[in-house]
Amino acid sequence: MGRIDTLLAAMTVEEKIGQLTMAAASLAVTGPAKLVDVAEGVRAGRIGAVLNLWGAEETRAVQRLAVDESRLGVPLLLGLDVVHGHRTIFPVPLAEACLFDPALWQKSARAAAEEAAMDGVAMTFAPMVDVARDPRWGRIVEGPGEDPWVASAFAAAKTRGFQGDDLAAADSVAATAKHLGAYGAVTAGREYASADVSERTLREIYLPAFAAAVAAGTAAIMPAFNDIAGVPMTANAALLKGWLRDRLGFDGVLVSDYNAIAELLEHGVAGDIAEAAALALEAGVDIDMMSGAYAKGLPEALRRGLVGMAEIDAGVRRVLALKERLGLFDDPYRRGAAGSRDEGGEASRRRALAREIARRAIVLLTCAPGALPLSPDIRRIAVIGPLAAAPQEMLGPWALAGRAEEAASILRGLEAALPDRRIDYAAGVDIAGEDTRGVPAALDLCRGADAVVLCIGEAASMSGEAASRADLGLPGRQRMFAEAVLDLGKPVAALLSSGRPLALPWLFERADAVLATWFLGGEAGHAVADVLTGRFNPTGRLPATWPRDVGQTPIFYGQRQAGRPAKAGERYCSRYLDLPVTPQFPFGHGLSYSRFSLHDLRCQPSRVEAGESVEIAVTVANDSGVDGEATLFLFVRDLVASVARPVLELKGVRKIVVAAGERAQATWRLPVEALAFVGADLDLVLEPGRFEVHVGQSADPAELLTSVIELVRSSTTSSAR
Ligand code: NOJ
Repeated sequence: MGRIDTLLAAMTVEEKIGQLTMAAASLAVTGPAKLVDVAEGVRAGRIGAVLNLWGAEETRAVQRLAVDESRLGVPLLLGLDVVHGHRTIFPVPLAEACLFDPALWQKSARAAAEEAAMDGVAMTFAPMVDVARDPRWGRIVEGPGEDPWVASAFAAAKTRGFQGDDLAAADSVAATAKHLGAYGAVTAGREYASADVSERTLREIYLPAFAAAVAAGTAAIMPAFNDIAGVPMTANAALLKGWLRDRLGFDGVLVSDYNAIAELLEHGVAGDIAEAAALALEAGVDIDMMSGAYAKGLPEALRRGLVGMAEIDAGVRRVLALKERLGLFDDPYRRGAAGSRDEGGEASRRRALAREIARRAIVLLTCAPGALPLSPDIRRIAVIGPLAAAPQEMLGPWALAGRAEEAASILRGLEAALPDRRIDYAAGVDIAGEDTRGVPAALDLCRGADAVVLCIGEAASMSGEAASRADLGLPGRQRMFAEAVLDLGKPVAALLSSGRPLALPWLFERADAVLATWFLGGEAGHAVADVLTGRFNPTGRLPATWPRDVGQTPIFYGQRQAGRPAKAGERYCSRYLDLPVTPQFPFGHGLSYSRFSLHDLRCQPSRVEAGESVEIAVTVANDSGVDGEATLFLFVRDLVASVARPVLELKGVRKIVVAAGERAQATWRLPVEALAFVGADLDLVLEPGRFEVHVGQSADPAELLTSVIELVRSSTTSSAR
């Protein structure tokens, strides 16, 4: 008998359920707090996994309880939300998505895994790969934005980065792709609410990133809190068993979200805890995170015949298999044993990576000619606003092991970068609240300055879990303050720290430049300084359409065309009476200190069959005097199909460095299979016909180059998607 069979044969029912039970230690609070005696449960074999614990000594101590003091000595699975870095805090995922760079996405995950593993963590509850099209939803900050192609690339890169080449390695952690699924589609952007999306939308938009995570070998997946059309994901056998396990062949661990199994009672699909436990187990959920439903409910569910021992055993097998893959049976202390490896420049290498990623995440939203970079003539700068000297906020909403005292605020970054300038600081107002007593002094500083860097936005806690907002404006008195600063007529560069796009048309209209600086992590200030001083030429692009007004949300570029598309001067068409239909900034938008133009889009051949591919090439010219990096998006549009297709679908992105005055070529090879879509029967189909191929610097239809290809001869494919 192998190790897993031997252990299973030796386990009592209580010990089996223990392997399916994850309890929280008290180092971090990431859900409704409950007092659980972790130590006693671990010793008794009633807890097989622990979350919210890190640190070499802390994790060793609790691991020792399992290995030395529990009857069977099965090592614990130690999990933590390592979402955008561990000790070294990287930009929030929405900001990282602005890079459109899978290699760097992978690198930051690798660095986070190394650090987390040094702290004894074996599993991260990341990447979060929920497509989000509604910025009211606070968790838009934790994911890759609105596009399923980007989300899939992000899922694959992060999974590879966290897990490395060998999951058993001392510096690898198990990835958990979360939250399956359609969590980003919760009603009205309200956290934890119901999502009611069609089967097609699920398959086209919300599931592909999870399929990509599975293809990349993710060790675990977490079902979402929400229900889809009445079926809570924690009990969604059709998706968890039917699609994920049976169709995709996922044989890793399904770990519930925090307390989610017990919440099946609140959802109104279970009458008591035994029913809740049975529903989740039957759906394929292996680990109960923090609800205690398996411990309380499974024995009773067994008695009632709602579940069989075979299902419990199957879950235990998957959990033990993960512990085995992580190398925990061979050496339960392999992680958390390597503190000394942090010496010798590793920590500073990771900080340098964080700075590189942070400056690449900054999106230059608007810029009047000559407004940036800051000219050498500007001798006196007022760095103003409640987010100017706020290192804790820079870390963002998931920085459990991050240290505010090590984070560079915007003020600190600018002071370090511009030692020869006079830099004055005042907060003026708080992020939220009504206190305006600091305004007059802040305005005085601005009056005496040559230029103002206005640092406004949200607190980190205003996005992330349980942080939906109905208003996408600035909280507190920030708008009043910002307008008073703008009224002074000084050159103003506004920096927006936020976990979501903010609807601030007045600011985009009036400020000389506006930059989305999100929550950039520990190196935030240095990254901002790199961009403002021109040491780094901005290259970040929006992974989510930026609305003009909350009334436009949800908003995304990949819409279907209406039967009556929006038309100027036409009443009976798809538009608003009181707002344009166009966004403030399209998906992919982002300016640079360079100026690029695109020319000469070619598709070869222009007639293709299934199994072939199209070579797509475009010329990009740098029409400015500044070296820079262009970002090019490849979209297709299926003009006529059996099911109406979106006006644009992303199929590729290229980032390409072009020297001042030079030209370069960007190319793609597009396999014809990339033109397949979810057909009427929900399988992938490839239909013959004409497709537009578009290349542009964003999804702005006015700026796209267009060519047409024709797919001849039909063929039908179906694949596990
Ligand atoms: C609840 C969140 O939804 C989930 O993303 C996270 O992993 C868990 N809490 C654990 O902190």
